[in-house]
Amino acid sequence: MTKSDRAVVRTARLLVRPPRGADRDRFVGLFRDEAFMVHAGVLTEQEAGDRFDHMVAFCRTVPFGKQPVVELSSGLVVGYTGVDHIAFEGRTWLEWGYRLVPECRGLGYATEAGQALLATAHQTYTGELLAIIAPENRASQNVCHKLGFTFWKQAPVAGDARNLYTRSVGAEWLLTHT
Ligand SMILES: CC(C)(COP(=O)(O)OP(=O)(O)OC[C@H]1O[C@@H](n2cnc3c(N)ncnc32)[C@H](O)[C@@H]1OP(=O)(O)O)[C@@H](O)C(=O)NCCC(=O)NCCS
Repeated sequence: MTKSDRAVVRTARLLVRPPRGADRDRFVGLFRDEAFMVHAGVLTEQEAGDRFDHMVAFCRTVPFGKQPVVELSSGLVVGYTGVDHIAFEGRTWLEWGYRLVPECRGLGYATEAGQALLATAHQTYTGELLAIIAPENRASQNVCHKLGFTFWKQAPVAGDARNLYTRSVGAEWLLTHT
């Protein structure tokens, strides 16, 4: 088994795995698609390419970085889940996020993929994770709760009111929850 095989997480319906060069066109297309980028805004071609390159580089250092979610039944990349760095209130956080193509929403995929990748987070990192969600985004907040995050506070993020959630992962959490 190669190192990259070990990084692949499989669930009943999904694969969650590090991005590859072959995913580039798919992600550049998704990052430029209004329906996929709802609540965030579409990127330009250049920004989308840069975002994909960042995703690849970040996942080389953080194994639970934002990465493709592949639907087993279709073989398609249907979204992403995982963390990226974000600066908030003077501190650099690992921010957990997820995003699916519209036809794959409402099926529980974000929770299924997130729970699987959180297992990788527990094995490789000890600390706190942050989630930042628009108050009106009920679906995302439901997923966030199902992933074990708890509400912290509402605060402005880049000028917009956002609900912030946190959860801890790693050695300390495993000691008290297993
Ligand atoms: C947010 C998102 C990832 C959720 O993923 P998902 O796999 O569709 O989530 P689920 O199927 O588990 O649904 C989550 C919950 O929200 C509920 N829900 C779904 N759409 C909803 C809506 N429009 N309003 C309220 N609740 C909704 C579901 O019934 C489910 O509730 P349950 O936990 O009680 O069963 C997905 O909708 C998405 O990609 N949205 C666009 C991008 C986005 O908002 N990303 C998050 C940015 S913070």
